[in-house]
Amino acid sequence: MDSFEVIPTGGALGAEVRGLDLREELGGETVRVLRGAFLDHCVLFFRGQEISQEDLVRFTRYFGKPVPHVRPQPDRPIDEIFVISNVTEDGQPIGALGSEEIPFHSDLSYLPEPGTISLLYALEIPERGGETMWANGYASYDALDPGTKARIDGLSAVHRHPIDALNTPEPTMHPVVRTHPETGRKVIYVSPHLTHHIADMEREGGRALLDELIAHATDARFVWKHRWQVGDLLMWDNRCTMHRRTPFDDRQRRFMWRTQVFGAGTR
Ligand code: OGA
Ligand code: MN
Repeated sequence: MDSFEVIPTGGALGAEVRGLDLREELGGETVRVLRGAFLDHCVLFFRGQEISQEDLVRFTRYFGKPVPHVRPQPDRPIDEIFVISNVTEDGQPIGALGSEEIPFHSDLSYLPEPGTISLLYALEIPERGGETMWANGYASYDALDPGTKARIDGLSAVHRHPIDALNTPEPTMHPVVRTHPETGRKVIYVSPHLTHHIADMEREGGRALLDELIAHATDARFVWKHRWQVGDLLMWDNRCTMHRRTPFDDRQRRFMWRTQVFGAGTR
């Protein structure tokens, strides 16, 4: 087996994996350990990587099927690679997400089958800002008092993207408390960016409950922040985390490659 270490961040979630070169194929036992660490820590990151798009897609396959991102992006040399960037060429953005703040969300929760795992590889990063934070949905659920757990058990919420063209014709609903299919643990599954309202509740009470759950789930004690370095590859589990990106100066360049896994998961 490759010799490597998994070092927990000591924060609300996440671990760094040291000692692997992701240009190389990984052995079966290494992949097994990485899958276990990923389920335990929800976020894994690898620093100092110098990988190609092919390497990123191959690495992604150890965890499930990489799919072309649902949002169109012209001129992709490799279909499964989606560019996240604020850079423009000839006045056209070369990637998605710009330089604005992106509020907490779980990827693609506005779809009936949301994304399971997302991977992001940093090629250029701004000097300041553009950091990404993850909130641990297990920890925030576990910390709820029994009364709140009982109150939200069985509720569903409608998820909707602010860009309406991305939404499905029928409203997308997900349980407010979701069970991770692989760990069997419960998670709070609402977000300020993509959860529109709680179903079957009157407007004011529903809004108040949603705000309360979001405030709780994004409380600093459940959140870990990543300061990007060039060469970082980071992967996260959308089934038990939400993430948020801080804004940055649009005159600086941020350029990343991203892959997306749907369905299946790590087994
Ligand atoms: C994403 C995303 C955050 C970032 O790619 O899904 O939310 O830091 N990115 O770019
Ligand atoms: Mn995202």
